Amino acid sequence: MTELSRRAFLTRSSAAAGGLALGVGAGCSGSDDGAASRDGDGAEAPGTTAAPPFDPGDWASVRAQFPLRSDTAQFAAYVLAAHPAPVAEAIARHRAGLDEHTHGYLGATEADAEIGVHDAAAEYLGASPAEVGLTDSTTMGLGLLYAGLRVPAGREVLTTEHDFYSTHQAWQLRAAREGIAVRRARLYDDPAAASTEAMVGRLMDQVTPATRVVAITWVHSSTGVRLPVRAIADALAAANAGRGPDERALLCVDGVHGLGAVDAGVGDLRCDFLVAGTHKWLFAPRGTGIVWGRADAWGQVDPAIPAFEPNSFGEWRNGLPPAPTDGWRFTPGGYHSFEHRWALAEAFRFHLDIGRDRVAARTTDQATALKAGLADIPGVRVVTPAAEDLSAGIVCFDVEGAEPAAVVDRLAAAGFDTSVTPYTDAHVRAGPSIVTTPEEVDGLLAALRAG
Ligand SMILES: Cc1ncc(COP(=O)(O)O)c(C=O)c1O
Repeated sequence: MTELSRRAFLTRSSAAAGGLALGVGAGCSGSDDGAASRDGDGAEAPGTTAAPPFDPGDWASVRAQFPLRSDTAQFAAYVLAAHPAPVAEAIARHRAGLDEHTHGYLGATEADAEIGVHDAAAEYLGASPAEVGLTDSTTMGLGLLYAGLRVPAGREVLTTEHDFYSTHQAWQLRAAREGIAVRRARLYDDPAAASTEAMVGRLMDQVTPATRVVAITWVHSSTGVRLPVRAIADALAAANAGRGPDERALLCVDGVHGLGAVDAGVGDLRCDFLVAGTHKWLFAPRGTGIVWGRADAWGQVDPAIPAFEPNSFGEWRNGLPPAPTDGWRFTPGGYHSFEHRWALAEAFRFHLDIGRDRVAARTTDQATALKAGLADIPGVRVVTPAAEDLSAGIVCFDVEGAEPAAVVDRLAAAGFDTSVTPYTDAHVRAGPSIVTTPEEVDGLLAALRAG
């Protein structure tokens, strides 16, 4: 680790512990010795297969970066990501370095790599690097955030009927520990007919002066409905007018099916916290995720797991109280599968190179075509709204007289990978993305028409 990168890492961590004499980088990696590097030897990184040159402007080249088999159209890539070549190469490079000289590579790489991930995530989100915390998944992010958010006595939590298990159960566990009241709003009865006005109205009807947290999901994996997060944030801001940071109702969003599918940064959403695994639509390393918090909201969270970032570590060694939380301090410590974590930077760069707007347009155009085609097939009912501003990449539908699992099996036999929504009210779910093509959308529709 060079002195410059060490200083940069320390400076970018929360400023509060300035002046501490830290002898370590994050954690105890320790060494300033040079480390093994596989860079620059021209050899293909182990564990990767050659992909054609990456041209971010060419969708065929984008698709060719993925080793995904081409005899199956990948309409369920949102379940868990495949790694595109730049991400796979970064993983392989870090893995080789760690395998070759573990302690040396860690010491030489950790500071720059961690900074690189925070910087890339911040650029993608339109945020500041210190506002970004790193986790292993959406579920871990939600669990840690909802365990650590300060909910004063007498205050309540509002979620919705449409959130995933991870949100519901995180609050269930907290409620069981502390007796916090958690209520659920129903935002729509018929998802296909959902409207911004009705959803904002139904949610805000449930917000009371006791509401401390509003925990919602950007894109519902049960129906494909995309919530108007910005409109909800604006309505909540009006309800919060005149309240201090300890009093405000905080808007927290499970963003996993929006991030990498919708062209929006945190400035567009205006929520207080955005939690997302990056191993779905962003095609980042499996086992990675982010929690973004607004700079003035992070102070309302107590970390549940000690961070290994240098300032937190230094406070412990110097017997000082912890400074207020930020993204660095929220990031759970302990050593990680660093080859995956550090390659997250390349995943954000991959999307930034293509363009967040172009990825979203590619996803939306195919989803819109799919919904329009489905609506024309007799016996098929589209569950997801047709409106592009109320949906994203997830398209849910039912086929009259057929169980969703049977439809998914039939499509799989025809070469189209889809899935069943993991909810009581199950539907067939298909997710066009940068690894599918408009021709494959046509093929999926033809397979359904063929019955
Ligand atoms: C809305 C939603 N949130 C969270 C998750 C879980 O994501 P992760 O695997 O990143 O924890 C899922 C599905 O896997 C989901 O549909």
